[in-house]
Formats: sequence, C-alpha cells, structure tokens
Amino acid sequence: MKIVIDTSEAIAQKAAEKYVELLDAKPDAVLGLATGSTPLGLYAELAKLCARGKITFAKAHSFNLDEYMGLEGTHDQSYRYFMNENLFSHVDMRIEETHVPSGVDVTEQTAADYDKLIEQAGGIDLQLLGIGNNGHIGFNEPNTPFGSKTHIVELTDSTRQANKRFFNSLEEVPTHAVTMGISTVMHAKSIILMAIGAGKAQCIKDTVEGPVTEAVPASVLQLHPDCTVYLDYEAASLLGK
Ligand code: PGA
Repeated sequence: MKIVIDTSEAIAQKAAEKYVELLDAKPDAVLGLATGSTPLGLYAELAKLCARGKITFAKAHSFNLDEYMGLEGTHDQSYRYFMNENLFSHVDMRIEETHVPSGVDVTEQTAADYDKLIEQAGGIDLQLLGIGNNGHIGFNEPNTPFGSKTHIVELTDSTRQANKRFFNSLEEVPTHAVTMGISTVMHAKSIILMAIGAGKAQCIKDTVEGPVTEAVPASVLQLHPDCTVYLDYEAASLLGK
C-alpha cells in the first residue's frame, strides 16, 4: 500500500490528480465510486477541474459501491440521489453511463448481475473507497468473506448508528443494503482508500498495520497490487504508534 498523508484539502487535490491522469490516458475508463462524507472534497475538486476543462468524464463509465435497500433513487438519502447531487450533476458524465445498484426489487440474482455488468464494461479501472469506523468497505461489514461478490447485507448497529445523522431517526435508517463484495472491489485495477478525521485513526491503523483478516474488511487491501491510501493528519495519527 502506498500511504499519502496531508491536510484533507491536499489529499482531495492529490486524489483528483489520479483521475486527471487516468482519464487523460484512458478517456473511457470505468470508475468505481463511493458515497459518504469522505469523498465530498474530492468530488468538489473534480467538479472544479471539469469546469476548467482540465478533466472530462464524457466517455467515462461508473459503478457505485452500494445502495440502501428499500430506497428509490429519488429518495434524498439514497446513494443514487447523493451521486447525482454531489458529482454527476457537476461534471460532464453521461448519466446513463453511471450505475448505482438498485435498492428496490433486489434479489441475490439482481445483485450478482451487477458483477456481470461490471465485467461486461471491462472491469473497474480505479475504485474509490471510504472506510467505516469498524473497517468496513462498501457495506462489507466485519467478517464478510473476502471471496464475496455483490450481495445483500444486513447493516450492523454501529453502521446504522453512524448513518442515522442523515435521517430523522434510527428507525428510518434502512436495515439492509446491497453492496459490491470484497472480491468485486479487489478486482479493480487500482484502488484509492480515503479517510479523514480522528474517528478513523484506529480502523486505519488496523487496516494498514494489522493482520489481513476478515474481522477488518479493509485490511484485505494490503494484498492489492495498486492501492493508495490518502489520509489527513488526524486519520493517520495512530500509525507507527
Ligand atoms: P464516511 O463513511 O465517508 O461518511 O465517513 C465512510 C464509510 O462508512 O464507508
């Protein structure tokens, strides 16, 4: 793993640079995208670069990591809605080339079909990841098998608690989600993991310095040949200690 530590603004700019390089070299690249607070700085940076003509997504394709089950794409807490609001409406990406797993009428079969769609698109060139306090990537909670493909998951209490800030109450937070599996993520040619804030310091330490274990899903990234971890100073604060 390559580790980059800087301010949250600087890591957003440095990560954005990776997208500029990738889309310069391969305009029709397949991007694996993520939701959450962490990528917001990066998405704002990409929007700025696109407005200045420094990057174009006109030929790119995207696949998001996950979606809550039971929420339509028009629901303001769905991840489809998040992506439209925070990235797709600010860059020149063709909306029909953006994919977010559907949260409605999901079956194990429709979940598995998402992996096929990714394969048919040529596989993911660059997968963006945040990390949960418990080390999850996508909605792959601790002890998800490393061999998992896109599947349905029951969310842990800790994840529902962490996400309730976006809903009126805990009861409104969906109990299930559909997520790319760990094997789906590991098939990406390159991976960026981003983490910001002291709340992520322990899971980052476990991910980077701990054993590779299904108890810490992100630790699998130690086995990926091209993974760059972008951390702000707070998220990196326990490394080497
Ligand atoms: P966050 O979520 O970016 O909002 O911290 C990350 C995650 O849970 O994967």
